[in-house]
Amino acid sequence: MKNLPDEVAALLRLWPDYRPTPLIELPGLAKECGVGEIMAKLEADRPLGNFKSLGGMYAGLRALARAAGLPSLETLVARRGAPKLPRLICASDGNHGLAVAAAAEMAGAPSRIFLHKGVPPERADRIAARGADIQWIEGTYDDAVLAASRSASAGEGLLIADTSDDPGDPALGDVMQGYELIAAELAGQLAERRPTHLFVQAGVGGLAAALVKGLADRQLLPERILVVEPKRAACVARALATGKPELIEGHLGTSAEMLSCGLASAPAVEILLQYSAESLVVGEDRLAEAVVTLDRAGGQRPRNPGRQDWRDCWRPPPVRKRGTLWVSTVRQLCF
Ligand SMILES: Cc1ncc(COP(=O)(O)O)c(C=O)c1O
Repeated sequence: MKNLPDEVAALLRLWPDYRPTPLIELPGLAKECGVGEIMAKLEADRPLGNFKSLGGMYAGLRALARAAGLPSLETLVARRGAPKLPRLICASDGNHGLAVAAAAEMAGAPSRIFLHKGVPPERADRIAARGADIQWIEGTYDDAVLAASRSASAGEGLLIADTSDDPGDPALGDVMQGYELIAAELAGQLAERRPTHLFVQAGVGGLAAALVKGLADRQLLPERILVVEPKRAACVARALATGKPELIEGHLGTSAEMLSCGLASAPAVEILLQYSAESLVVGEDRLAEAVVTLDRAGGQRPRNPGRQDWRDCWRPPPVRKRGTLWVSTVRQLCF
């Protein structure tokens, strides 16, 4: 694949299952919304079930290679734990922790993953099955982030965070560079068809920022970038409005569970502001309808079609007759 940092390419060589996720067209939905084209990138088809595998695995392996003074990810994995490797640490809602634990397992290193009590046990089991030590934390995702950071500061291992208040955090830089693989895949899949609008979901904003930067670097930046969040955990919306991450207190529970974050990532916000990203905040009713609509649009079994839901929650764009929308999605989370 062209335009890929060497070490991201090395990750792909280590990953025999790797293949680009599909970019599908949704002509029925485009017609319904009155736009030219809608495309969706199906990130649920990624190894480990989501895009987080790209960031957490890449950053985890790179941190271990750096710590062991090894020249490449391939050497690291070939040696499998010799010399003795440090522990990888992170906080997670489930997906990032799974990726970091998988990196540790691949390299023969230990891992410790901090989960808040709202994470369902089956998600914790998947992480534990990769050999990780699970630490349960009272509170929200943001409390787990703090606990993981304290653990790393106390010398218990290397922090592989997917969010940070430090724009220079090297592991986070690697996480976001790993996500850029999605933009590299898109460059091949879109060919010359530059989308007019990008809709991308956000927890702390890392995915959205990496995509925006990756598309801009490849001359594919859409005219409008819409960062989509649940109303109950709209921390990126808050940061875009005020110019910096600010903690949203209280209950962040939402059906879009992986997006339940109260504090946006500073490096991500910096990039999103630089590219004038806008915010689109969606209430719980709309989130539930969107799942049904996307299932239907993807040709799956129709369930109680609510015909105007996409039009309402996506605010039809001014260029609607010729517009191309591009949507980052996992089928169940559904944006
Ligand atoms: C499937 C899925 N989508 C989106 C996100 C949000 O990504 P970010 O926190 O980088 O904004 C997550 C985070 O875990 C996720 O698992």
